[in-house]
Amino acid sequence: MRLKGKVAIVTGACGGIGQEIVRKFVSEGARVVAADLDRRQVEDFASQFSGEVKGCGVDVADYAQVEAMVAAAVESFHTLDVVVNNAGIGVPKALLDHDPAADFDLVTRVNQKGVYHGILAGAKKLRELGKPGVILNTSSIYGQMAAELSFTYNVSKAAVDMMTKCAALELAPLGIRVAAVAPGRVDTPMLRQYQALGLWEHIRREQMRNEFTRPEEIADVFAFLASDEANCINGSTVCAEDGFLNFKYPLMAT
Ligand SMILES: NC(=O)c1ccc[n+]([C@@H]2O[C@H](COP(=O)([O-])OP(=O)(O)OC[C@H]3O[C@@H](n4cnc5c(N)ncnc54)[C@H](O)[C@@H]3O)[C@@H](O)[C@H]2O)c1
Repeated sequence: MRLKGKVAIVTGACGGIGQEIVRKFVSEGARVVAADLDRRQVEDFASQFSGEVKGCGVDVADYAQVEAMVAAAVESFHTLDVVVNNAGIGVPKALLDHDPAADFDLVTRVNQKGVYHGILAGAKKLRELGKPGVILNTSSIYGQMAAELSFTYNVSKAAVDMMTKCAALELAPLGIRVAAVAPGRVDTPMLRQYQALGLWEHIRREQMRNEFTRPEEIADVFAFLASDEANCINGSTVCAEDGFLNFKYPLMAT
């Protein structure tokens, strides 16, 4: 039970990765505020547990709502230890098809500002409580490499990596540790967009194991990073990408 007695917030909790983070944290002894856009959906999800999970509606793009989410966690469980800024969206679109009045902000407000809001509101609450804590962000390998159809997403995830480093530096004196996880291809509703684009088989072969990472495997990495076992990991983005960054498809393709 690596998270026994800990209280965590997980955003994007109704999504493929978020649900598994919540399940894993509970199995490791944590109580969790599961937060997502649709309050009814997230409360339904929380009702599958036996009181260890509270649902909370939040739009992470709105700082006031993120502050309220953090306050609700402390109200429900009387303390706070871990904040996981996991909510994110991907909207595949070619750069030259962008509407400059809409497309950049659409992704940035969730993936970049949403994480910024979670770091800020979480750290302020931990300071107020006078206790150490852990803030974890969901990045992507796309924060480290270029990809087609993914301009704003990649820029937002590169920002997540840098926010992770800068926050770690400024928050270290308070005993707050900050790290990120960069998944590669995880079989979730977000990734399924590639099916509609006819790219599913192609991207499956981009994994060293020739299969997509399972959301449960990403949740295992989050649980480790949230635990005291990861005390020496600070400011880093940990890649959990099935080798995607380490080999060049189609060299291994059959
Ligand atoms: N699936 C992958 O291959 C992959 C790879 C790398 C990184 N990621 C990242 O993992 C995270 C989770 O993605 P996923 O694959 O589980 O996708 P998903 O679409 O299954 O889940 C995303 C969740 O975020 C929620 N969300 C979206 N906008 C929100 C907002 N404004 N406020 C609150 N919640 C909001 C959605 O309702 C959804 O439940 C994202 O940050 C994503 O960028 C995913």
